Amino acid sequence: MENKCCCGGENKEKAKIDEILVKYEGTKGFLIPVLQEVQHLYNYLPKEALEYVAQETKTPISAVYGVVTFYSQFHLNPRGRNIIRVCQGTACHVRGGKLILEEVEKELGVKAGHTTEDLRFTVETVACIGACGLAPVMQINEDTHGRLTPEKISLILAKYN
Ligand code: FES
Repeated sequence: MENKCCCGGENKEKAKIDEILVKYEGTKGFLIPVLQEVQHLYNYLPKEALEYVAQETKTPISAVYGVVTFYSQFHLNPRGRNIIRVCQGTACHVRGGKLILEEVEKELGVKAGHTTEDLRFTVETVACIGACGLAPVMQINEDTHGRLTPEKISLILAKYN
């Protein structure tokens, strides 16, 4: 997925946002679905795209940012192609979840909450992903990896590009 912003003559990108805006024109509560689709285009919400949405929908930019910052599903910074969620819930914590997180951070050279420079991975923590029986657990995109040990991490990460 390209991470180009919609400004600077990127008319193709603007056209894509226009298509989204047309789809929701006149719909009550359009802002959230519009922002979800724009985020899907870029994998995050570039500042220029938000300004364009605000301008085209005659919505104050402060209101757009209000929505974006209220909902955790929206991201203002580029995200990795693969999202890693390392569980730090109680069951995982007592079975070494912290060591798993440390190993992921060490392998990728980024701390939780950050994205690798090549945009390959974003590392996050979660409180529980509902797979406590497999603790310690991490999720990469839709895949759940359980009964982890620090030794398994590098092999698992190698499967994702
Ligand atoms: S505490 Fe980790 S899956 Fe529930």
